[in-house]
Amino acid sequence: MSKKGISQLFDVSNKVILITGGAGAIGSSIAKGFAKLGAKLIFTDFNLPEAQNIAHKMKIPATQIIVEHLDVRDQTQVQNVVKKSISHFNRIDILFNNAGINPRIKAVDIKKEIWEEVININLSGMFFMAQEVAKQTMIPNLDGKIINTSSLQGMKGAKGAAAYASSKGGIITLTKVLANEWGKFNINVNSIAPSNLDTPMTARVYSEKGSKEKASKKTPLQRLGIPDDLIGTVLYLSSPASNYVTGQTIIIDGGKSVS
Ligand SMILES: NC(=O)c1ccc[n+]([C@@H]2O[C@H](COP(=O)([O-])OP(=O)(O)OC[C@H]3O[C@@H](n4cnc5c(N)ncnc54)[C@H](O)[C@@H]3O)[C@@H](O)[C@H]2O)c1
Repeated sequence: MSKKGISQLFDVSNKVILITGGAGAIGSSIAKGFAKLGAKLIFTDFNLPEAQNIAHKMKIPATQIIVEHLDVRDQTQVQNVVKKSISHFNRIDILFNNAGINPRIKAVDIKKEIWEEVININLSGMFFMAQEVAKQTMIPNLDGKIINTSSLQGMKGAKGAAAYASSKGGIITLTKVLANEWGKFNINVNSIAPSNLDTPMTARVYSEKGSKEKASKKTPLQRLGIPDDLIGTVLYLSSPASNYVTGQTIIIDGGKSVS
């Protein structure tokens, strides 16, 4: 590979990335990281005021970002936001499919409405986002990178996670299916499976005094993760460095899953 090719392996400058669930811990960390790398952002969330607040604090040029209200359960909104993004930036190069919820409820207590809500957001929402971005821009452009946020729970399950872990396991399989169908269009579809992170979503897990220290000691890398620990992997899966990688799920957990 030429020196120029090597130097561009992790280049996402001027790439257009659409982020769902951008106002959350992980989405906002990825947005800030990619903005610093010169990417153009379509920064979306169900919670528009919070997304606007975060975007304002990022202090990036208005030409580099649009902020949109997007509820991934609503197919019309999904279609419209993708359409608007393309008319604004011409294309979408990267989809960071990330919006998700995680209500922890014992299996015997889960009501149908909660089950459907989790599946609608975490699994159907990610699928229809990917479908729309692929149809409107990535397939016609014969180019694209899709990164779905799964979870280690999607591989190994956990107590209180019947709906959540099922949705995240579904994402791992969906990633493989889409990679199979869309490889011929030069679209890479991969997912990340974070775990062991210290974020608001996991606050209940670490609510007991000393539980974070205990969990850290059990982790090969001796600490809990933070959202910024995901930036490198998402960058890898978004950039030319991963051009021959598709259908894969990368665990990011400080080694917890092998301990
Ligand atoms: N935090 C963790 O430890 C962890 C671990 C593994 C996987 N994940 C996954 O990472 C993703 C992001 O998690 P996080 O920790 O940033 O959570 P978070 O709760 O901080 O952020 C999630 C964001 O998604 C948004 N959202 C919720 N419903 C939506 C909808 N219908 N449409 C659009 N946006 C919606 C919320 O407004 C919020 O801003 C989720 O898919 C989650 O399951 C998180």
